[in-house]
Amino acid sequence: MEQHNEKWGSRWGFLLATAGSAIGLGNIWKFPYITGNNGGAAFVCVYLLAILFVGLPLMIAELSLGRATACHPAWAFDKFTKGQKTPLAGFVGTLIIISGLLMVFFRCPGHAILLLTLGIFLCLKGWKTVGVITGVLAPFIIISYYGVIGGWTIIYVFKSFAGELNFADPAQGKLIFEPILNAEKSTWGILLSAHFAFVAAAAVVVFFGVQNGIEKSSKVLMPMLFILLGALVLRGISLPGASKGLKFFLSPDFSALRPESVLIAMGQAFFTLSLAMGITTTYGSYLKRDVNIVQSALTIIGLDTLAAVMAGIAVFSSVFAMGFDPAQGPGLVYMIVPSAFNKVPGNLGWLWNGLFFIMLTIAALTSLISLLEPLVNFAVRQFKISRHLAVILFSLVIYLFGLLSAFSCANWKNLPWLEKLIKDFFKDAGPSFFELSDSFASNWMLPLGGLAIAIFAGWIWGTKRVIKEVRRGTRSGLLDANILVLLTGLDPRDYARKSLFSPAVFWAVSIRWITPVLVVFAFLYCIGVI
Ligand code: PHE
Repeated sequence: MEQHNEKWGSRWGFLLATAGSAIGLGNIWKFPYITGNNGGAAFVCVYLLAILFVGLPLMIAELSLGRATACHPAWAFDKFTKGQKTPLAGFVGTLIIISGLLMVFFRCPGHAILLLTLGIFLCLKGWKTVGVITGVLAPFIIISYYGVIGGWTIIYVFKSFAGELNFADPAQGKLIFEPILNAEKSTWGILLSAHFAFVAAAAVVVFFGVQNGIEKSSKVLMPMLFILLGALVLRGISLPGASKGLKFFLSPDFSALRPESVLIAMGQAFFTLSLAMGITTTYGSYLKRDVNIVQSALTIIGLDTLAAVMAGIAVFSSVFAMGFDPAQGPGLVYMIVPSAFNKVPGNLGWLWNGLFFIMLTIAALTSLISLLEPLVNFAVRQFKISRHLAVILFSLVIYLFGLLSAFSCANWKNLPWLEKLIKDFFKDAGPSFFELSDSFASNWMLPLGGLAIAIFAGWIWGTKRVIKEVRRGTRSGLLDANILVLLTGLDPRDYARKSLFSPAVFWAVSIRWITPVLVVFAFLYCIGVI
């Protein structure tokens, strides 16, 4: 029986758990620096539009799909296609098989195997393939490398309190960070144990189930996260010179906005809201009928954006106040931020750093939990094993698979045999296993999965039926009222009964026409075609 009867205990439990999934490394280090690189507040405006036209419609679709079926995605899609392949799935499957055969012709065995497997699955299993890719494969790959960065945050928490991060010069920070990044021999012990501790922490939570594990832990961890973020924001903005950082982060500079900023914003909207990786559908499957899906999606998105903005303010106010340049990528958080906190008057650098990295660990942990849950849910139904056994088995497999990313994070130095193997099969192995996994998941699986979900909700399951599901738990009138009436706080009952300019119509237009087109553009950008 693939349908399950686990349910959230409370609406806030669900909201905090889903927000916990959404708020992660993407918010704390990625959002601040891509905002900085793309024109500050101008980029934030574009990002909010991407959330509105891509993030929100997809989140509503995934939550509804989960709740309507009470199934993991591997079965949810099947419920509405009755396990049969639709003409669309057959058509796309055939096209993919043909491209797989072409790859044989061009002697690209790796691509050929991947494409042929995918095409055959699509032809035989139809939409179930999408469920398995988004709900099993995507979380499996992402969790393996996400766990590595989670391990680093734990290492940094310990280093902060042990006083090892007391450098005021990022060059010294480099001496600590680079050996970890390059997985040099001297760091193997701590890399292995921190990665283990991180995966184990997520496993313990998932072990106790939806209500007693995920929900309870989120109710403690998420308020902690916001309190810590709040403290860091206050510390940051009260520093002399903080205003330069705030200006950098919050004042719009439309000239720095490049055409591709729009696509970057869309990619970020996907990743940060944990869409197209089985999480939102699985978490939606634990929803009770009386929960308002639209309001929930808006709350989750609001909390996620709040966390991103708070992280940006905390990071940039301190970094600028202390006279540093905002570097890019992981370096910003691991080298520049500690230096900045150490220069804060009062000699409490160890404390600010400690709090910062605890906050980062919490953010990453709640995301990792949400990646593990769909895998465990799948294993329980597919292999008919207990949740406990599924957690133990999957955590072990994920830990071991993640080691490949831990040991090949920035380069292939530690794993030359794997580089050779991948090169033999795919011609190119990229800079490292970590990068390979990330680009495969973020550039291929997420946009294509998102596209498939939009098409499924808009055309296959159908807008009419999705809206019917959304109506359960939504106060009648809200979905059909004119958006202007809603925004102005007037009582929808006093105005026209059904409006063309209503949330329901907005969602249906987006999911059918706008979201898929935007996602296709984001995808073409990700893979370098535009
Ligand atoms: N949403 C998370 C973030 O912003 C990332 C994430 C991706 C979490 C995939 C879970 C799954 O960092």
